[in-house]
Amino acid sequence: MSEATTTADYFGAYGGRYVGETLRPALDQLAAEFPRAWRDPDFQRELQRTQKDFIGRPTPFLYAENVSRALGGADIYIKMEGLAHTGAHKINNAVGQALLARRLGKKRVIAETGAGQHGLATAAACARLGLSCRVYMGAVDVARQRPNVFAMEMLGAEVMSIDAGSRTLKDAINAALRDWSASFPDTHYLIGSALGPSPFPEMVRRLQAVVGAETKAQMRETGADFAALVACVGGGSNAIGFFSPFIDGSAPRLIGVEAGGRGTGAGDNASRMTGGVARVGVAHGYKSRFLMDDDGQLLPTHSISAGLDYPGIGPQLADLGESGRVEFTAATDAEALDALRFFARHEGVLFALESAHAAAAAMRLAPAIGRGRAIAVNMSGRGDKDLFITAKALDRENWLAFLQSEIDHA
Ligand SMILES: Cc1ncc(COP(=O)(O)O)c(C=O)c1O
Repeated sequence: MSEATTTADYFGAYGGRYVGETLRPALDQLAAEFPRAWRDPDFQRELQRTQKDFIGRPTPFLYAENVSRALGGADIYIKMEGLAHTGAHKINNAVGQALLARRLGKKRVIAETGAGQHGLATAAACARLGLSCRVYMGAVDVARQRPNVFAMEMLGAEVMSIDAGSRTLKDAINAALRDWSASFPDTHYLIGSALGPSPFPEMVRRLQAVVGAETKAQMRETGADFAALVACVGGGSNAIGFFSPFIDGSAPRLIGVEAGGRGTGAGDNASRMTGGVARVGVAHGYKSRFLMDDDGQLLPTHSISAGLDYPGIGPQLADLGESGRVEFTAATDAEALDALRFFARHEGVLFALESAHAAAAAMRLAPAIGRGRAIAVNMSGRGDKDLFITAKALDRENWLAFLQSEIDHA
């Protein structure tokens, strides 16, 4: 392993390019070609056309008036990113990188996925652009996210179940990096969050910044005085995209919400910025804050939301947390479920479990901030994908009876 020497690869102390020599040419090519594509009016035109017609951008910005009234504090607005095609913000990044892959003459795309949302978005983008697609997924995730596996296969992707390690997202990333080391001349690795070796964190931030840019304009249209923006943080792509146009200022407050899981004990959460257990280390090609042991092995984590249980955090968010520009808090599994129900009943909006962590933090924040000001929450995804988890958690007996009847009548 060797470390890149250019400071542009870093966000403060975090980031870099900690990969073996075999991957350097692939990363060098991306570092050279992505800025070139970004400046090319043809690339921008095609990206914007795809964002509008395929993804469905701009996504709405909803004043949650019933929720705001019920909470009795700051007004809450929801960036409805879950209305994007395939149900989450992941498609913004997938489409942009797939267009880049095609421009680079790559015929094949590989990706990792945990919950399946990034895999689904990548499979859809590849089907649209005529690229072959393989998605690596831990065997545990394949078992618990079967509907998304089925959907990826419908979209023509090959889903590779990984039986190594804890058989979850981190093992899928390892498998994808191994594949890419041997295949990069004709293959692009479409990483799913703002992490990994440089230039991925910056590339993914730029592709997700469309969420923040739209939100900034939509905030202005409301005439409201926004005190804070709130987003959930797995690897960090929806949060960094949402926060992006506000980072250089000192207001509004930017608040990232991690998975508080079922408690503060080791293995019970995925709090890298708030729990006091995380440490600085290197994994998956970059330096950041990780939940890892003394030997640098990534530790098991827990969250009810499959998208928030990654043991690391993107390097830019780690740096912004350390500088204080982004504040971090956590929401537990129970708080996320309560928020999910609260917004569903009062506003008719079904948050993804990941995004419900941000909703839970906004519910705490609204009374504290008080009337006359506003909060924007990023609903990074919609909750349809979670039915198999939420129904089991909230309506267990009826759900299990339904599943049994499906088996009985199969
Ligand atoms: C709906 C949704 N929100 C958030 C996340 C977390 O990812 P990130 O922190 O990169 O936005 C995921 C990941 O799968 C997701 O599906």
